[in-house]
Amino acid sequence: MSVLAAESPVNLTLGIDARRAHPTEGWSCIVPSATSGVLPTPQVAHRRGQVGPRGRFAALTAAFTLHSFRKKATREGEQPDMIEVENLSKRYGDKVAVDGLTFTVSPGVVTGFLGPNGAGKSTTLRMIAALDVPTSGRVRVNGRDYRSSPAPMAELGLLLEAKAVHPGRSARDHLLAIGQTAGIGKARVDQVIELVGLGDVARKRVGGFSLGMGQRVGIAVALLGRPGTVVMDEPVNGLDPEGVRWIRALLRALADEGCTVFYSSHLMSEMAQTATNLIVIGRGRLIADSTVEQFIAKTTAASVVVRSPEAPRLRGLLGRPGVRIVSDGPDLLRVDGVTPEEIGTIASLAGVPVFDLRVERASLEEAFMQATQDSVEYKAAGSESL
Ligand SMILES: Nc1ncnc2c1ncn2[C@@H]1O[C@H](COP(=O)(O)OP(=O)(O)OP(=O)(O)O)[C@@H](O)[C@H]1O
Ligand SMILES: [Mg+2]
Repeated sequence: MSVLAAESPVNLTLGIDARRAHPTEGWSCIVPSATSGVLPTPQVAHRRGQVGPRGRFAALTAAFTLHSFRKKATREGEQPDMIEVENLSKRYGDKVAVDGLTFTVSPGVVTGFLGPNGAGKSTTLRMIAALDVPTSGRVRVNGRDYRSSPAPMAELGLLLEAKAVHPGRSARDHLLAIGQTAGIGKARVDQVIELVGLGDVARKRVGGFSLGMGQRVGIAVALLGRPGTVVMDEPVNGLDPEGVRWIRALLRALADEGCTVFYSSHLMSEMAQTATNLIVIGRGRLIADSTVEQFIAKTTAASVVVRSPEAPRLRGLLGRPGVRIVSDGPDLLRVDGVTPEEIGTIASLAGVPVFDLRVERASLEEAFMQATQDSVEYKAAGSESL
C-alpha cells in the first residue's frame, strides 16, 4: 500500500517533487471540489443501481461531499493513466508465482483482479507498484516504470498491506508522516480521514484498530495523493456492510472520473456489482481478460426460462438432440441449447401462449469456479472428512 510505497526506498530515493503531487499541476484525476457537481444526481444514481428504497443515495452523498471528483483533463500528447503488464513473470526459488502475464488495465472503468489463493495476484500487484522486481517481463504505469515517476503518490494510490502501519502511531500521524514525503499537507490528511469515516478515532493508536478500521487507514493512504491510478489488494477485506457499499461506490466514482482502478477480491458477488472488466489468473497464468458479462457468457451456459400454461406441449415442440429441458414447475421450463428467439418463434407458430421468456445467466461465482477449477492449488477436504 502507500504505506509501503511512501516509506519504501523506492519513494524515498526518488526525490519526490512536492509541487508535482498537487492536482493543479495536472497530475491528478481526483480533484476535491465542493461544487464540481460530479456526485451523481439521484436519478443517475438510481439508474446505476446506487439507490435502494431506503436512501442509499443519502449514504453516497455523505461519503462524497467531502471528496468529489472531477474528470481528468488529459493534456494533448499526455499518456492516459493505465497499467500495462507485458510478459510478466516472477519466480521465488522453484515456485513460479507469476507466469508470463500480459494485460492492460484501462482508465474509466473498474477492473477486478481474480484468482484462487496463491494464484499470483498480490505478487503481480507488488510488481506493478515496483515493490517486487520481476524475474522477466515489464510493467508500465501511465506509460513508464513507476520507479521513475516524479510524483509517485499522485501517480499511483496503493493499498497492498493495510496492516503495514506502526501500531504506536495514531492514524492521523501516520497519514501526516506519509503526506510529508510528498508535500501533502494537513488539510488533505484531514479530508481523507473524513472521507474514509475515521474522524472520531484519527488521533487514536492504530494498534488498537479493528481489521476494518485498519483497512480504512490503508484506503486513506491510497487516496492521499489524489492518484490517477488506484491499485488495491482486497480492499473489501474486513469492511462492514456499510464499508463494503462505500468502497464499491468509491471505486466506481473514481473510475467514472477517469481514473484507472484495479483491485483484487475474493468476494464474487461484490466484484460482480463493482467491476466492469476482469483479469482472471490461475497458477500465475492469465485465464481471462474481458468484461464481467463476457466472462460469464463464455464460461457458463445460459439457460432460457419459459413460462407457459401449455408447458408440456411446448416441451414436446422444443425437444431435439442437443437440447436439454428441465421442468421447474407445472408451467415452467428451463431450456439449454435453444435461443429465446427460437423458443418465442416456435411457440408463436404453434399458438402456444408464453407468459415469461428470459435468459438466466450464471453468477460470477459459478463462472469463476468453472474457469479456475483446474488452477486451484489449495483445496479444502470435503466436510465428510470432519
Ligand atoms: N516473498 C515470497 N517468497 C516466496 N514465495 C512467495 C512470496 N510471495 C509469494 N510467494 C508465493 O507465490 C505464490 C503467489 O502468491 P500471491 O500472494 O501472489 O498469491 P495471491 O493470488 O495473492 O493469493 P491470495 O488470494 O491467497 O492472496 C504463492 O505460492 C506464494 O506462496
Ligand atoms: Mg494475495
